Amino acid sequence: MNIKIALLPGDGIGPEIMESAVGLIKSIADRYNLSISFSEQLVGGASIDEYGEPLTEQVLEECYDANAVLLGAVGGEKWENLEHQKKPEAGLLKLRKSLGLFANIRPAKIYPAFIDASSLKADVLSGTDFVVLRELTGGIYFGEPRGYDETHGWNTMSYTKDEVDRIVHMAFEMAKQRNGKLTSVDKANVLEVSQFWRSRVNEIKEKFPEITLQHMYVDNASMQIVRDPTQFDVIVTGNMFGDIVSDIAGMITGSLGMLPSASLGDQYALYEPVHGSAPDIAGKDMANPIAMLSSVAMMFNHSFQMTQAAEIIEKAIERSLEQGFRTQDIFSEGKELVSCTKMSEIILNNVEEIMNEEAIGVFTL
Ligand code: IPM
Ligand code: MN
Repeated sequence: MNIKIALLPGDGIGPEIMESAVGLIKSIADRYNLSISFSEQLVGGASIDEYGEPLTEQVLEECYDANAVLLGAVGGEKWENLEHQKKPEAGLLKLRKSLGLFANIRPAKIYPAFIDASSLKADVLSGTDFVVLRELTGGIYFGEPRGYDETHGWNTMSYTKDEVDRIVHMAFEMAKQRNGKLTSVDKANVLEVSQFWRSRVNEIKEKFPEITLQHMYVDNASMQIVRDPTQFDVIVTGNMFGDIVSDIAGMITGSLGMLPSASLGDQYALYEPVHGSAPDIAGKDMANPIAMLSSVAMMFNHSFQMTQAAEIIEKAIERSLEQGFRTQDIFSEGKELVSCTKMSEIILNNVEEIMNEEAIGVFTL
């Protein structure tokens, strides 16, 4: 299999964790006899510094031409005062929109070795395993009209039938593959756009009689995730509610530094950690590479249907945590504090070891 991956390290800790990702991809590629080529490109602040804009057409072309896009993180103080369209974040939004990545999958999974690091009590958290499916190319993030003047600022939250239907379909399908429970999050007690969303969800539900559906207002859902996260299986919601709810979901797992994400469309796919660019620790070899490596696992799974490789990566991450290794963001007494490079090395060794145990590659010529 010939695979081309576009690498967009971006800003802050992005380049450091991207290096770990590349090491991991190469070692999987060796075993599975994949021929992988990389195309490394600038995005976000790094692109602003070089070209004066956060995402150039040429980079976009490289992404269209790739089988998958891997992104580190974008943003930092340096570019905070630029006008809206010139900020690093605008590059990310343009990338999502141009590639048609309407579905953002953010799993909230608890690593058992890690349960004590959460801000929630272990007994509340135990057994938590749900996914937030966030609509990513519509809603208030992209709605027109938008703008501000001296006295007034405005945005528009709107959803078309097609936009709601495709994400909601995906959510029902996902619930079918998982534990058969779907929660649709909206604000239908206040917003017409949510009433519309809800009516579409109810209509689509008729095609999925085996799925248990509930609707929840976004404020209540946020509270419920903290109160009893085990009640959720798949959560589907719009762009802005999904942004907020997925951060809450991320935090209760113990560290945002652990969580991967996949953004999928009909033709393209992008994988990135949920955490940001963490400029305060950039260049210090302190970042946690786990979310990035776990995003690579999602890439093998969703883009290349290599479920086994994805599982091996996840197992290797779990094993490294069980062995007691921690980067500074997840460090606690009695554990061994390691750098980003070291953590990546340990995970990679475990990947190799697991592949040996499972005799992966030994029979291929
Ligand atoms: C995210 C981020 C982005 C978003 C920002 C950086 C534009 O917060 O991926 O959740 O709001 O979508
Ligand atoms: Mn966010």
